[in-house]
Amino acid sequence: MSRRPIGVFDSGVGGLTVLKELIRRLPNERYVYFGDMARTPYGTKSKETVTRFSKQIVRFLLSLDVKAIVVACNTASAMALDSIEAEYDMPVIGVVKPGAKTAADTTKTGHIGLIGTEATISSGIYESYLDTYSPGIHLSGKACPLFVSLVEEGCIEDPVTTEIARRYLSVFKGTDIDTIIMGCTHFPMIEDTIQRVAGNHVKLVNPAFETAKSTQKMLEERNLENDEEIPVDEEAYRFYVSDAPDRFSRIADIFLPLSISGAKQIAIEEY
Ligand code: DGL
Repeated sequence: MSRRPIGVFDSGVGGLTVLKELIRRLPNERYVYFGDMARTPYGTKSKETVTRFSKQIVRFLLSLDVKAIVVACNTASAMALDSIEAEYDMPVIGVVKPGAKTAADTTKTGHIGLIGTEATISSGIYESYLDTYSPGIHLSGKACPLFVSLVEEGCIEDPVTTEIARRYLSVFKGTDIDTIIMGCTHFPMIEDTIQRVAGNHVKLVNPAFETAKSTQKMLEERNLENDEEIPVDEEAYRFYVSDAPDRFSRIADIFLPLSISGAKQIAIEEY
């Protein structure tokens, strides 16, 4: 058992969808969340850059004595997870593997759709995981960058979002895709719209949900979970950002049923 916090990070606010699932599944844990508001988005950046940013954040989280790290960003998981795992002696969970595994278990036709940032789609990481779980599965990817801004603008149930979803998802129409991975942190926020446009014959996989399950399993296996309730007067969730704490708190309201005030700004380049 360990009372130390779990470190969770993302390029910005999107990872809060993962934090939400973690809190739901592991309510007795303490969490430290870092959002890289100064350098978001990661989805258009190179592997080298995303890896450098991610390692700085890992070093920052380690300085807060976290017991495990959840890379709550699809782009960072796709591009940097391997090097983080190789360099740091710490349990690290990314969002890609759990989502890929569930998708492989879900599809009946063997044809899966993937939506995410440009970087995630072009990384080929989902293909390689799927290939190890179930060789022969066919993956069709579609970058949907506008969804990120739409969610951050609060356009959750909105005709504009529906129209953009129609355009993006039209590439999957007429195919035998029966499963779509929402391979970007923001997308579960507009799950209803994506489901409506994709059609009910398609199952949506939410990597945030699957990641929380994997985190629970990992904590149990390593005897790291905290079973004691957290005292009400203790701050169980701490939030840090590299810039724009007010914008972070404002957008966070869309993502989390918690009011986040007082996200602390830190100089991430120093780590
Ligand atoms: N968090 C990112 C992801 O899941 C989306 C936003 C970005 O591009 O940084 O890929």
